[in-house]
Amino acid sequence: MKLIVLTVLLALAYAKHEEYIGWKSYYVRPVSDADFKIFAAMIERYELDILSHPISSREGVILVKPEHQAGFEHDAADAGISVKIHRDNIKQELDFDDMQLERHNRESFARNGGRNLPYDSYQQIEAINDYLDYIGATYPDVAKVVDAANSFEGRPIKYVKISTTNFEDHSKPVIVIDGGIHAREWISPPSVTYAIKKLVEDVTEPDLLDRFDWILLPVVNPDGYKFTFTNSRFWRKTRSTDQSSLSSVCPGVDGNRNYDFHFGPIGTSSSACSDVYRGSQAFSEVETRVVRDILQEHLSRVALYLTMHSYGSMILYPWGHDGSFSHNAFGLHVVGVEMANAIDKESLPNFPRYTVGNSALVLHYPASGASEDYAHSIGVPLSYTYELPGLAGGLQGFNLSPIHIQQVVRETWAGIAVGARRAGDLFRK
Ligand code: ARG
Ligand code: ZN
Repeated sequence: MKLIVLTVLLALAYAKHEEYIGWKSYYVRPVSDADFKIFAAMIERYELDILSHPISSREGVILVKPEHQAGFEHDAADAGISVKIHRDNIKQELDFDDMQLERHNRESFARNGGRNLPYDSYQQIEAINDYLDYIGATYPDVAKVVDAANSFEGRPIKYVKISTTNFEDHSKPVIVIDGGIHAREWISPPSVTYAIKKLVEDVTEPDLLDRFDWILLPVVNPDGYKFTFTNSRFWRKTRSTDQSSLSSVCPGVDGNRNYDFHFGPIGTSSSACSDVYRGSQAFSEVETRVVRDILQEHLSRVALYLTMHSYGSMILYPWGHDGSFSHNAFGLHVVGVEMANAIDKESLPNFPRYTVGNSALVLHYPASGASEDYAHSIGVPLSYTYELPGLAGGLQGFNLSPIHIQQVVRETWAGIAVGARRAGDLFRK
C-alpha cells in the first residue's frame, strides 16, 4: 500500500513540467550590431523565449523548443553568433528546482517561527497577500493595504501605502515600486516585500519612512504568477481570454507591452499566441490599469518609479521604444549609476555587476508600451526597469536558487534606498 502511494506521488511529481520535455536553454552572445539584428530575426523565426537579454558586454539566456533547436543552432553557426548550451534538460532542472524550493520553504518556515515570509522564499500568491494583510493589521499607523481591483481571474491585486502622515502631507515625494508583472520572474515580488519589511518592520533607515510616502505593489499579475506554480513555470503574461479570437487558445497579454505610450509599433506582437502580445488596446488589462491609476492619482508627487523584473543585472531607463534620450536623461543616468553602485557594493563576487543605460540601447531591443516609459511620459522624473540578478551559470537547478533570495533582496534594497534619497533631493528643486 505504502509503495503504491509512493509511486502515485512520484508519478504526480514527475508529471509536472512535462510541456518542457526536450526544451533546452542556450547562452547566446551576439557582438556586432549586425549580430543583434540577426538575433532579433531569429527570435521571431524560432519562437525564442528570452529569459535574459544579451547585451554588448554579456551573453543572454534563451529557451528553445525541441522543434526549433536544429534550425536555431544552424542559423546561429551560419551567422557566426556564438551559442552554447546552458541547460540541456529543462524538465529535469525544474524538477530539481521544485525539490530545492520545497526544502528551502520548510527550513524558512521553521526558522521564522512557523510563518511564510515572502522575502525569504518564493511563496504562492496567497502567502504574499497574507503578509500584506499582516502588515496592514499590525502597523495601522503607517501601513494601509489597498485591494485595488480583481485580476482577470478574480484574484485581488493588493498594494501597501506606507506613510507617517496618512498620505496627507502633499509636500512629500512619493515612491512607487511594482513587481511581478511578468509572472515567471519570481525574484521580483520578494524585492518589493522586502522593501515593505525594511520600511515598516525594521525601520533601520527612519529617514526613508519620514521623508517619503511609499506605494509598494509586489504582484501586479497574480493570475500569471499563480499559473507559474500550478501549470507552466515559464508563463510570462496575464491570463485574460477576452483580447482576441485566439485568446481562448492563447490566453494572456504581455503587461509590459500594454501601457499607453507608443502602444504597439515595436518589440510587440499583435498575435495573442506571442509572449509579447500587446493586447487589443493600451490598458486592456486590469492589472496594468491598477499601476496606471496609482501613478495618475499621485502624479504631482511621484519622484521615483521602479518596476522589478528579472534577470540580467541591469538598471534601464527611457526611452525604451526608440532608444532616444529624454529631457531628464542626465538625471536618469546619474541616479541609475548611483543605485547600481550601491547595489554592487553590497553584492557578492559571483554575482554579475550591474549595467546602467537606456533600455533600448542596452538591450539592443526596442520595445514599446512598457511601464517605465509610460511613467516617464506622464511626468515621473525618474523611472526605471530593474532587471534583478540571476546566476546564469549558477549552481544546480534552473532558476535563481532560493538560497540567493536573501542576498538579492538585501542588495536591491540598497539600490532602492539610494534611489529614493536622490529622487527626494531632486524633487525639492
Ligand atoms: N525585459 C523587459 C521587457 O521585455 C525590458 C523592458 C525595457 N523597457 C522598455 N521600455 N523597452 O519587458
Ligand atoms: Zn520582465
